[in-house]
Amino acid sequence: MVFSRFLSWFGGGRGKPAGSPGKAAAHERRRRGKVDVWRRYEPLHHSISGTMSSFYKVRDKETGDVVGLKILDPKKVGPIEGRYKGLGKPSEGEIGDRITGRHVVRTLDWGVAKDGNTFIVEEFLDGQLLHGLLSTRRALPPAQRLDLVRQAATAVATVHKAGFVHRDICPRNFILCPDGRLVLFDFGLTVPDKPVFLQPGNRIGTPNYMAPEVVRRRQADRRLDIFSFGVTAYEICTLELPWPRGTTGRAALQHDTTPQDIREHWPDIPAVLGKAIMGCIEPDVARRPANLDEFLTKIAAVDLGPAGVAGT
Ligand SMILES: Nc1ncnc2c1ncn2[C@@H]1O[C@H](COP(=O)(O)OP(=O)(O)OP(=O)(O)O)[C@@H](O)[C@H]1O
Ligand SMILES: [Mg+2]
Repeated sequence: MVFSRFLSWFGGGRGKPAGSPGKAAAHERRRRGKVDVWRRYEPLHHSISGTMSSFYKVRDKETGDVVGLKILDPKKVGPIEGRYKGLGKPSEGEIGDRITGRHVVRTLDWGVAKDGNTFIVEEFLDGQLLHGLLSTRRALPPAQRLDLVRQAATAVATVHKAGFVHRDICPRNFILCPDGRLVLFDFGLTVPDKPVFLQPGNRIGTPNYMAPEVVRRRQADRRLDIFSFGVTAYEICTLELPWPRGTTGRAALQHDTTPQDIREHWPDIPAVLGKAIMGCIEPDVARRPANLDEFLTKIAAVDLGPAGVAGT
């Protein structure tokens, strides 16, 4: 997934907020050099290479549980984390530990392995990437579209309520479980919801879902996630994107132009739902909903029938 992160566009990062390393750092210090991950975890299949990590389905030999093991690539993660040096930014593992909810992956443990690499142990989500489901290009039943949009909104709201901005909301970072539960994961780019972590400079995220204030290197806030959620919701509903899809960052430069109306792809979309989704992808930040509870309230009365068990 070479293009899923947009690292080559990095500008200069600035600013240094106060902050304490907190309990996670203490936890990491305690564990430093202590975990021989391949002694503790038995791999059950080959790794999946992410842009910044390798992910393994493993069995925890101590508990017998099947879990997910994410090992971060220091060469990729180092330059990003380096931008927040001295700012008290929690690690990916600690961030995951602090964000809990039905639609967010459970972080079970994290620490530093014997070889010095950071690892994170997560609930293993045995399902299908939302990206994979949408890539089949088979239109989803309307009730399922609405169900997935609501679940995705709830997931992002959970991140925001925990005090973080995810910064990479896109279909590659949701897994749809066989019971119909949609789950958000990957806190690799997540930062505390504080201005200093969202200063102009870093074009970071996945270009097709990237908010114009990020593309244009302006000060951002949690509403950058609301934009990315809006693009994701548009795609769930229509299999299309509001602006021409690109494989490089160039296409994202159009994200402050008028998007294609969602009704052009789904003429019968309930008006309230269409309007709410279009509201999330407003190029003007001030016109987006302030939070996703507001979005969920707007669409609360929309009824497209029972969703059933979503999935394959
Ligand atoms: N908890 C999980 N359960 C099941 N599969 C997972 C889980 N976490 C990650 N994966 C798999 O590993 C891949 C990479 O994970 P993740 O997105 O966290 O890493 P990344 O390095 O940030 O990669 P990317 O650039 O693809 O976002 C995912 O696309 C998914 O297929
Ligand atoms: Mg990811």
